[in-house]
Amino acid sequence: MNEELVKSALSKVLYPGFQKDILSFGFVDKIEVDGSNVTVEVTITSSASEVEEELRRNIDLELSRAGAEKIFIKINKPAMPRETSSRGKNIAPNVKNFVMVSSGKGGVGKSTTSVNLAVALAMKGKKVGLLDADIYGPNIPRMLGVENIKPEVIGNKVKPIEAYGLEMISMGSLMGQGEALLWRGSLIIKAIQQFLTDILWSDLDVLVIDMPPGTGDAQLTLAQSVPVTAGVTVTTPQTVALDDADRSLAMFKKLHIPIVGIVENMSGFICPESGKEYDIFGKNTTDELAKKYDTFILADLPIDPTIRLGGDSGSPITYAKPDSEIAKRYLKSAEILWGEIERINEQGIASNEAIQPTSGVSACSTGGSSGGSCSC
Ligand SMILES: Nc1ncnc2c1ncn2[C@@H]1O[C@H](COP(=O)(O)OP(=O)(O)OP(=O)(O)O)[C@@H](O)[C@H]1O
Ligand SMILES: [Mg+2]
Repeated sequence: MNEELVKSALSKVLYPGFQKDILSFGFVDKIEVDGSNVTVEVTITSSASEVEEELRRNIDLELSRAGAEKIFIKINKPAMPRETSSRGKNIAPNVKNFVMVSSGKGGVGKSTTSVNLAVALAMKGKKVGLLDADIYGPNIPRMLGVENIKPEVIGNKVKPIEAYGLEMISMGSLMGQGEALLWRGSLIIKAIQQFLTDILWSDLDVLVIDMPPGTGDAQLTLAQSVPVTAGVTVTTPQTVALDDADRSLAMFKKLHIPIVGIVENMSGFICPESGKEYDIFGKNTTDELAKKYDTFILADLPIDPTIRLGGDSGSPITYAKPDSEIAKRYLKSAEILWGEIERINEQGIASNEAIQPTSGVSACSTGGSSGGSCSC
C-alpha cells in the first residue's frame, strides 16, 4: 500500500447522504501506511452513530479492495448532537452565532428573507453580518443597493461592505457585475472558507448566511467550518416546493443544526386595492412539515409587490417601511429567531413548541383562489 492508493480508495467513500466523497470534503485528517497496514483518521460533524457506522463500513470496504490488510479507522465526532452549536470548530471566531438560511428549491425567497431578517436584527440593536454564500447567483448586493460598491482590501483581507446597519460580503461584490464563473465543487468549498477567514468581520452577534438552493458543497462546508447556531428553511406553499423544503430540513437534521423554523413565503396574495387575501400557491400548507421536524412557522409572508420592489431597488422593506404589515412580520420573526438563538446557546436546544405564524392579515372573505373576484 501507499498513500496514493489509500487516497484513491477514500475518494470512493461518499459522505452519508451526500454525493461527495470524504476526501474531497476535507474530512480525512491523517493517513499512515506501514506495509499493507493502513491507519486513517477522519473528523466529521455528525454525532449520529449510523453515520459513523456507514463510514467505517465503506472505508474498510474500499481500503480492503485496494489491498490493505490491517485497517485502523479513527473517527472523531462531536460528543453531543447539539454541542456543535456552542463548542464546535469556528474558523470565524469573531462571530458568535451563525444562522443558515436554506431552501430545497431555488427562487422561493431565501435572499429576500436573509436580507430582511438581517436588517430586522440590526434594527433591534444586534451587530449583524450578512454573508451571501450563493456563489453561483449572488443577489444580496443589489438587494442592499450596493451592487456598484467594491469592498476595501486591507493587506490580504477584505473589509465587508456596510449597508443598513449591517456588514455584508458577496461574491457579487468581489467580481465584476454580470461576471459569472463556472464554480467547481472544490472552488465553492474554498470560497466559503475564505468568506469566513479572510473577511474582516467585526465582533458580530450574528452572521446571517444566504445559501444557494439545495443541499450540497456549500451547506456541508459551512457546517464543517463553523458551529451553525440555527437553520431557517424558506419555502413557498406549493406541494412541489414543500417536497424540496423537506430535503432542506432533513439536511439540517443530518448536520445537527438546530432548526429554528420555516418561513412560508409567497403565502397568499393581498390585493392592494381591496386589501383582500387570495391563495395563489396555497397557504398554511407548511404546518405538517413543521410538525414532522418538531419546529414551527417562523413567519408567513404574502406575495407583495413591495417586497419585490424593495429587493430590486436595494431598499429592504423592513428598513424602508418599518410600520408596514410586512416589516412587522420580519421584525417579529427576528425577535423569535433571536430568542431561539439565546435558548440554543443556554440550553443547547431549539424550542419545539409550535408558535403561531406572525399573522395579522385577515383571510379573504370571498374564498380566495377558490372563486373570489379581485379587482386588481
Ligand atoms: N413575498 C414576496 N412577495 C413578492 N415578491 C417576492 C417575495 N419573496 C421574494 N420575492 C421576489 O421573488 C424573487 C426571488 O426571491 P429571492 O431572490 O429572494 O429568492 P431565492 O430563494 O434567494 O432565489 P435563488 O434560489 O435564485 O437564490 C425576487 O425578485 C424577490 O424580490
Ligand atoms: Mg438567493
